[in-house]
Amino acid sequence: MTTSAATQALLANADRYYVPVYRPRRIVLARGAGSRVWDSEGREYVDFAAGIAVCGLGHADPELVATLVEQAGKLWHTSNIFVSEPPLRLAEELVAASGFAERVFLCNSGAEANEAAIKLVRRWAAAQGRGPDRRVIITFQGSFHGRTLAAVTATAQPKYQEGYEPLPGGFRYCPYNDLAAVEAAMATGDVAAVLVEPIQGEGGVLPAAPGFLAGLRELCDRHGALLALDEIQSGMGRTGKLWAWQWDNAKPDILTLAKALGGGFPIGAMLAGEKVAQTLQFGAHGTTFGGNPLAAAIARVALRRLDSADIRANVERQSAALRAGLEAIDADFGVFREIRGRGLMLGAVLAERLAGRAGDVLDAAVARGLLLLQAGPDVLRFVPALNIGDADVAEGLAVLREVLKDLA
Ligand SMILES: Cc1ncc(COP(=O)(O)O)c(C=O)c1O
Repeated sequence: MTTSAATQALLANADRYYVPVYRPRRIVLARGAGSRVWDSEGREYVDFAAGIAVCGLGHADPELVATLVEQAGKLWHTSNIFVSEPPLRLAEELVAASGFAERVFLCNSGAEANEAAIKLVRRWAAAQGRGPDRRVIITFQGSFHGRTLAAVTATAQPKYQEGYEPLPGGFRYCPYNDLAAVEAAMATGDVAAVLVEPIQGEGGVLPAAPGFLAGLRELCDRHGALLALDEIQSGMGRTGKLWAWQWDNAKPDILTLAKALGGGFPIGAMLAGEKVAQTLQFGAHGTTFGGNPLAAAIARVALRRLDSADIRANVERQSAALRAGLEAIDADFGVFREIRGRGLMLGAVLAERLAGRAGDVLDAAVARGLLLLQAGPDVLRFVPALNIGDADVAEGLAVLREVLKDLA
């Protein structure tokens, strides 16, 4: 793969000017359409990454673009000192679609949505007369909730926390899918909430076992604790239902969203029922950019389009195609230990002899024209646009087959 001097100069900027927290692939993406993107050299890629489960309607969706352009010509930003119509409508539509919530706090990212949820839990517990030592939040090993200090503390993975101590207190970690461990961790009577992903995304595309979320719901009810679901990655139709909790009918008290909510434009949201939300009163929390009209106008379109029978049918169809393709690759080359996940949130766990090589697969895939993600060193992650087409899936799988054939 030859790269022009202009592209190399741009990539040198990434090395020279960014705080070195990322290790991006050595290409410069220039434009996209649907589930295809092109780099600065004009090379085409099938996109199975969708900006980490963000571009739910693919790239340059005409309606999203038109909405952005129209709103950009009207009003970009007001702050929450003044209101505008798009976020007011979005809040109403999110409440209607949520199946449980009555109020919405709009923000700008997933970490911010979880930060708001954590603060809400603490205030809610405080309002019940619980002292600081009785406001514990249970989270799960392998979870990922974002990079703010509280969210990274909720993220029970040492690699994200090391060096950031002292971390905020009041978090307790349990093994995922282990209800008995949660029950034991709640026995002390000091737990205010359980915060959990219905499918652990960054932690390896690990789904909640059937009954786990419902079991958490029951434990929270029994112990007077809130159930907070982080659907930042699993929500907005990705698993084939608008919310992944619907598979286990485990209605939350708090729900956090981001990623696909804005179809690629940054926005986050925290949803809660009336009584819980009322504990965050005037001045208790806030953000300058949250709920800006530009992001909200786009999110309204994304929500309407992703919450549709068409998308649900496509997620089911392409999920089956992707799974079948991965199984066929595995049958030929024996490269996977397990294929797991739900809808268009799938993970392929690499076989023992390829352990630790997910990054190598990503490099090789990029070189052949496929954008892919990993979830840790051993898991390939597939989170394409929810409107991805048959040809995109087939072509992406064909590239992956070649990559894994070489590697195997
Ligand atoms: C489940 C989950 N929660 C929270 C986050 C953090 O979101 P953001 O990167 O927008 O802060 C992510 C991001 O990957 C996520 O997958």
